[in-house]
Amino acid sequence: MPSPAPSRHIARLAAALALGLGLGLGATASAQTADATTVARGAYLVHGMGCADCHTPLKMGPKGPEPDLSRGLSGHPQGMLLQPPTLPAGSPWMWGGAVTNTAFWGPWGVSYAANLTPDATGLKDWTAEQFVQAMRTGKHAGSGRPLMPPMPWPAFGQLNDADLHAMFSYLMAQPAVQNRVPDYQPPAPVARH
Ligand code: HEC
Repeated sequence: MPSPAPSRHIARLAAALALGLGLGLGATASAQTADATTVARGAYLVHGMGCADCHTPLKMGPKGPEPDLSRGLSGHPQGMLLQPPTLPAGSPWMWGGAVTNTAFWGPWGVSYAANLTPDATGLKDWTAEQFVQAMRTGKHAGSGRPLMPPMPWPAFGQLNDADLHAMFSYLMAQPAVQNRVPDYQPPAPVARH
């Protein structure tokens, strides 16, 4: 009796080859070829680490604010630019969030949670390696400007490559939502007298 292991191995090898071939031919979404186990692992990690808490906008529901699932993981709504509030001198408060819980102000200025869906306004053109590097280095798309709080990249960057790749595969398998998130706003320069 042949054990099932070799055939499973061959299936995985075939999937890996298909993935390599697909990428080689310039296929757009690796998600289409990522295997179901990897995507399920990614779902487990993305849900368990609360990415949607900051990346899915809240809307007002009958019982109070609730995640707007029609815009799941699409980041801060397009066109909703915010100005940081002015705190009274000596206030113990340091930072805060928008009603959508997708924009945050603090000493770093105003940061807007990114669109994590596979749309052109989101992560469609990112490679898995860029995602891994963004989490590891805290740089935009893995090599750009420093990412601002409260994106918890120093925590997520502790994960191993396989888990970060699984998360990226899961994100690429979500519905694409068109939403161009506003650019990060640095703090206003301190006035000098
Ligand atoms: C506490 C809120 C918060 C949580 C939780 C959070 N993010 Fe973010 N994320 C942000 C903010 C804010 C930004 C925008 C930072 C900036 O523009 O400097 C961001 C940006 C990003 C970016 C864009 C990085 C870039 O290069 O432009 C990615 C990718 C990302 N987050 C992935 C995730 C993933 C995956 C998770 C869950 C594992 C997650 N985030 C959880 C707040 C959060």
